[in-house]
Amino acid sequence: MISERAQNVQPSATLKVTGRAKELKRQGKSIVSLSAGEPDFKTPKHICDAAIKAIRDGFHGYTMNPGTPELREAICAKLKRDNALDYEPSQVICSNGAKQSVGFSLLALVNKGDEVIIPAPYWVSYPEMTRMAEGNPVTVRTSFENDFKLSPEQLEDAITDKTKVLILCSPSNPTGARYSEDELKDLADVLKKYPEIYVISDEIYEYIVFDGEHTGILNVAPELKDRVLLVNGFSKGFAMTGWRLGYLAASEEIVSAFARIQSQETSAPSSISQKAAEAAYTGSLDEVKAMRDEFKKRRDYLVETLNAIDGVSCFTPGGAFYVFPDISGYIGKSQPDGSAIESSTDLCLYLLDEYGLALVPGDAFGEPNGLRMSYAASMDDLKEAMDRLKKGLSQLR
Ligand SMILES: Cc1ncc(COP(=O)(O)O)c(C=O)c1O
Repeated sequence: MISERAQNVQPSATLKVTGRAKELKRQGKSIVSLSAGEPDFKTPKHICDAAIKAIRDGFHGYTMNPGTPELREAICAKLKRDNALDYEPSQVICSNGAKQSVGFSLLALVNKGDEVIIPAPYWVSYPEMTRMAEGNPVTVRTSFENDFKLSPEQLEDAITDKTKVLILCSPSNPTGARYSEDELKDLADVLKKYPEIYVISDEIYEYIVFDGEHTGILNVAPELKDRVLLVNGFSKGFAMTGWRLGYLAASEEIVSAFARIQSQETSAPSSISQKAAEAAYTGSLDEVKAMRDEFKKRRDYLVETLNAIDGVSCFTPGGAFYVFPDISGYIGKSQPDGSAIESSTDLCLYLLDEYGLALVPGDAFGEPNGLRMSYAASMDDLKEAMDRLKKGLSQLR
């Protein structure tokens, strides 16, 4: 019999929709999928070249468990250059993606029964990872009116004597929302009153921000440095999802706890990917900026088109490559065959089965009134997707 732990883990809902869309495509159906969470661009050439060179040079062995000293130095230099933050290589550990960085951070911090505050809509893995660490996820539902951002009052209300961690994700998956400096300051003011609470700040979408520069909580509250776990990686900004490389920057105490876990579970990430990541952080960011500019055009197109549809409203997200429109106006309606649309999941299944449009229901992210559309897809696909969405919605009564 498999463990209760494994039985209790939910499969990723985003992967479920992507899987069903792929299956329908395989059967020959025309499918437009806006469900994936990965850039549709190629990794920049100079990064690929660094990996090819590493292979040719025979850089094939295990590296040090926290990552090569050169990569950790490059990460520290980047944190200084882009984020005005001071870290030493001993305060950085590389792992197989930001996902693992979040998961091992939770394992390093959370005791059985500890509470982890997770603003909803949330990235699907946060509650599951919390449970796997034997913690209790405390999800706090944010509002469409506040662009799905946690308010200081909501944070204060959610804190109990069991609270151990707050997870912040800005820019956010699934909403694309970004906290402003003032909003982060207000949250930091609450956290300053509770010195036993840690913050996992997931900044994986840092390079995909549209108006102004990225701001993290440490930029507005440097005094929280010992209890902020800064998670980042290469997947999104450099279109390197398959290379599997992320990292954690935190106090030496936390990094060494994380390192002990990593040393027993996985060891260091791929040596080849580490060489590629070093090239990413030491080389030109021109292609990163070009990808960001392309994402911005797509965001503008989607937000404008969605807001012109009756019964749909969508705020303008400041980053990432997702929009998260409010579709509550369509919940409670009926399909042409009479069956009811009772949830965002029903709506997404209807759009997929009848119109070949794959989107991810808000239910998966803890927000039943929304759905997530990824615009990591070509403009042609986005236009086709909007046509299918309009047709599908117009048939509901
Ligand atoms: C908010 C968030 N954090 C972390 C990750 C994982 O990133 P990585 O590919 O580096 O593991 C994702 C990927 O979808 C994400 O959306």
